[in-house]
Amino acid sequence: MNLPPRAELDAARERVHAALQPGGLAVLTGAGMSAESGIPTFRDAMTGLWSRFDPAELASDAGFRAQPQRVWQWYAERRDGVRRAEPNAGHRALAAFDQRHPGVLAIVTQNVDDLHQRAGNRDAIRLHGDILEDRWLDACARQPPCAVAAASGGTPPRCAECGNPVRPGVVWFGEMLPAHALAQAEQAARQCRVLLVVGTSGAVWPAAGLAAAARRAGAWVAIVNPHASEIDDEVHLLLRGSAAQVLPALLAGL
Ligand code: APR
Repeated sequence: MNLPPRAELDAARERVHAALQPGGLAVLTGAGMSAESGIPTFRDAMTGLWSRFDPAELASDAGFRAQPQRVWQWYAERRDGVRRAEPNAGHRALAAFDQRHPGVLAIVTQNVDDLHQRAGNRDAIRLHGDILEDRWLDACARQPPCAVAAASGGTPPRCAECGNPVRPGVVWFGEMLPAHALAQAEQAARQCRVLLVVGTSGAVWPAAGLAAAARRAGAWVAIVNPHASEIDDEVHLLLRGSAAQVLPALLAGL
């Protein structure tokens, strides 16, 4: 078990304990949160998706329109991976903490899997959408709009009425984040006394900006990550370790 030094863990536990108030603890998660559940991250060397695939081809509107079959098949494989995965000890520690302290914790996730939700954090704020959700590529012009669930088979499935293809409900590069989720995330960052940043490289904005926003608002900010990230300088403490090992040690008994 690779845990940070006891003194660092204890310092973080004291901060979390002092933040046991409504909205006192916010947790921003990234792909590293689900790595120990077997879901690949994006930028880890060799294993990360972007070291094997071109994000412009597979995670953009233009890429989907250029190769809808290939992109849909790639998401279908990722969806299968998410369905096979199980929440890990990190997800479960957050859900157990939420059960013990209703209203204290706000989870803001960049992850498009449903592991926080399956662990019990149904209200986790999704900044980058939901990979298991289907939606139309183009807004349906009909009133009422055609039901995406009625899309017929095919790769990708299409509307039987107007041929509109189905796309996964994730935020692609160059697309806006869901406004409501972003507003909730910014509110959580401004309101919290402690922000834990777990398993993100801090490479993607506006999510990466939440650490500095929380610190500016007076929060104490710590990172949980076995490796360096692009926002290490924004925080008060670096807890070098994995999500599934550090979060249970950090939250147990609190
Ligand atoms: N526990 C904690 N952190 C881990 C673990 C682990 N077990 N394994 C890897 N990490 C860390 C890595 O060191 C890295 O800093 O998780 C981070 C994963 O970074 P990325 O792959 O860049 O994922 P993320 O930060 O979530 O990416 C942000 O980019 O591709 C887009 O939309 C996608 O939401 C994603 C966004």
